[in-house]
Amino acid sequence: MPNTVDPVVSLLIIDDDPGSLDLFSNALEQPGLEILTASDPKDGLDIVCSRHPQIVLTDLVMPHLSGLDVLERIMEVDPATDVILMTAQYSSETAVEAIQKGASDYLNKPISLPTLRERVGRLIEDARKRQRSLRLEDELRTNSEFEGIIGRGPLMWEMFSRIRRVSPHYRAVLITGATGTGKDLTARALHRLSPVSSGRYVVLNCSAVVETLFESELFGHVKGSFTGATQDKPGLFEYAHGGTLFLDEIGDMPLTTQAKLLRVLQNHEVQRVGALSARKVDVRVVAATNHDLRALIAANRFREDLYYRLSMVEIQVPRLEERKEDLPMLQRHFITRFAAEYRKEIRGLTRRAQIRLSQHSWPGNVRELENVIGHAAMMTMGNIIDVQDLPSYMHVHAEQSTHTTSIPSSDIGTLEEQERLLLIRALEAAAGNQSKAARLLRIGRDALRYKLKKHHLDTPDSGRASAAAG
Ligand SMILES: Nc1ncnc2c1ncn2[C@@H]1O[C@H](COP(=O)(O)OP(=O)(O)O)[C@@H](O)[C@H]1O
Ligand SMILES: [Mg+2]
Repeated sequence: MPNTVDPVVSLLIIDDDPGSLDLFSNALEQPGLEILTASDPKDGLDIVCSRHPQIVLTDLVMPHLSGLDVLERIMEVDPATDVILMTAQYSSETAVEAIQKGASDYLNKPISLPTLRERVGRLIEDARKRQRSLRLEDELRTNSEFEGIIGRGPLMWEMFSRIRRVSPHYRAVLITGATGTGKDLTARALHRLSPVSSGRYVVLNCSAVVETLFESELFGHVKGSFTGATQDKPGLFEYAHGGTLFLDEIGDMPLTTQAKLLRVLQNHEVQRVGALSARKVDVRVVAATNHDLRALIAANRFREDLYYRLSMVEIQVPRLEERKEDLPMLQRHFITRFAAEYRKEIRGLTRRAQIRLSQHSWPGNVRELENVIGHAAMMTMGNIIDVQDLPSYMHVHAEQSTHTTSIPSSDIGTLEEQERLLLIRALEAAAGNQSKAARLLRIGRDALRYKLKKHHLDTPDSGRASAAAG
């Protein structure tokens, strides 16, 4: 669709009175709006599941299924839907109940057409804006990907530009960054953009190699050089000749091997274990670590000379917390991937879930986000990931753990206030289910009941009302 055309928004009207259906459809008709109608609420719900209208206008009192039931089902399928209830029997209790259950608006019948146009018009405009920004996000995403690495913002641009500048020339590169930040992807990008991209890309994870076999693995051995060496074997350096060798977790390499590695980097030749002569190799080496190599040097666990050799060209991969602007795009990237993997139609995250993710400190970086979205994509019953689909530690504890380190002391509040807040959050996350809330808080049900009573949260309504106010 060309950019100048406004996205189509779809609106479903459910009313058992065909006359009202016609009246409302005619009143709301406008370009860029698709209007669907159902005179039976069950048909309406089918349409919600199959067509995903952004807005649903439903009558409250209908045979078979009430508007509140319809609302509840829609919230299960797609909590991001704007639902407007209409009724001739207005009561403020029902209105409050509807809003608490997720309704966007509540209109009195008979509805004046200008009022209808105004109130529904606002939601249509909002839906249009959301669609436009989703489309911009998609565009942004294609423009913010570098060799499979998603990122925007200054830190990632700087990294992309370093990769681009370094890749034609490097002989050895050091990639540093916390676990799960994307060091593997970075190493691959360096290889793909290098002049040897058609050569082999060979990976050795140094933390997974038995110490005694390290040198044989890297440099090869000759028959009889040690017990078990039954024949001549080339090492990974020879295997990677004309390509790239990626040494992951270089900090775990034994010191003696480090000395030999340094010699290979300097002389471009390897000597198989037990061999008398050396062979020329042409290999680019990319090393990665999540350790602070300087600290390892201080502890005599890493050779300083090797460090200087490797770190002549260093690429630092920023932590996810330093580039939270990447979160929305990474979320969409993983949602698309897992939706395809699980053959589900998942369209996004609710605002509540987005907020929860943005508050997290992401100690496991992009890998943690990948796991969280993977978990949620598997758990979700609907088309939109909501808070309860996230792993349980994200429901409450995530915020707590961030706050223990970063919250200013003036904002802590009293223990009682915090307890109350946690109770409300747990109830919210458990959708009012007390057993579930108790599990989230890792306390017994009786303890929970006692605490709810103490904080006057023991009726479901008082809990919800406080949650909405807070
Ligand atoms: N910027 C990114 N864009 C897309 N996927 C990423 C990004 N960074 C990491 N990932 C994904 O997150 C996971 C962890 O990344 P990885 O490169 O293995 O981290 P590291 O090697 O630093 O521990 C992988 O599945 C990787 O594909
Ligand atoms: Mg890795």
